[in-house]
Amino acid sequence: MNHKSSNTVWYMPTINRKDRELLHRHKSAVIWFTGLSGSGKSTLAHAIEAYLYELDISTYVLDGDNVRQGLCGDLGFSDADRVENIRRVGEVAKLLIDSGVLTLTAFISPFKSDRAEVRKHFAQHDFIEVYCQCSVEVCEARDVKGLYKKARSGEIKDFTGISSPYEAPEQAELVINTQALSLDDSVQAVLNLLRDRNLIA
Ligand code: ADX
Repeated sequence: MNHKSSNTVWYMPTINRKDRELLHRHKSAVIWFTGLSGSGKSTLAHAIEAYLYELDISTYVLDGDNVRQGLCGDLGFSDADRVENIRRVGEVAKLLIDSGVLTLTAFISPFKSDRAEVRKHFAQHDFIEVYCQCSVEVCEARDVKGLYKKARSGEIKDFTGISSPYEAPEQAELVINTQALSLDDSVQAVLNLLRDRNLIA
C-alpha cells in the first residue's frame, strides 16, 4: 500500500481486546476460508456462524460477494484489484477481532503471497486458514451462480480457475475436501479445530 496518512498518532484505547473478549465471554480469532468460486466457502462459513450463534458466540462473516457491493465495490478482478481486495479485508478482519468478534472470511483469495501478507498481521493463534478444496471441474459442474458458463464463453474475463490463477495453500491449518465431505461433516471438522484451539468449549 502507498501509505499517505502521515501525521497520525495511534490512540491507545481505554477498553481493549481483552476487555471485549471478557464481555463476550469468548476469544476472538479469524477463520480465513480460501478456495475457488463454488468451493463452498460461504456456505461453510455461514453454517458455522449459525452453529456458533446457538453457543452465544459473537461472530461476523465477511463474504466476497457482499463486501464487493460496498467497501470493495470499486475493485474488479484484475490481479492488482484482488490484491487490494484481500488487503482491505485483512485490515477489516483485524479490526473485527480487536472488537472481540469471532470473524469468518470467505474470499477466493487466490494468491499465496496475499494470504501470507494477511497472516503476518495476526498473532499465530489468531489466524486459522481453511482451504475449501474442490476441483475446478466440480465447481464448474455445480456452477451455482452461472459464472463458470459465462467465463467459458468469454463473457467474464479473469475468472479464477478458468482464466485467472488459483494458488492452493500448502500449509493451511485445515483442508476441507468439500467434494467428499457433507456440509455437516465439514462444519464439524472446523468446530473440532476451534475446540482444539480453545476458542469454543
Ligand atoms: S478475490 O479473488 O478477490 O478473493 P472474491 O472472493 O472477493 O475474489 O470474490 C469472488 C466472487 O466474485 C465469486 O464468488 C463470484 O461470485 C464473483 N466473481 C465475479 N467475477 C469473478 C471473477 N472474474 N473471478 C472470480 N470470481 C468472480
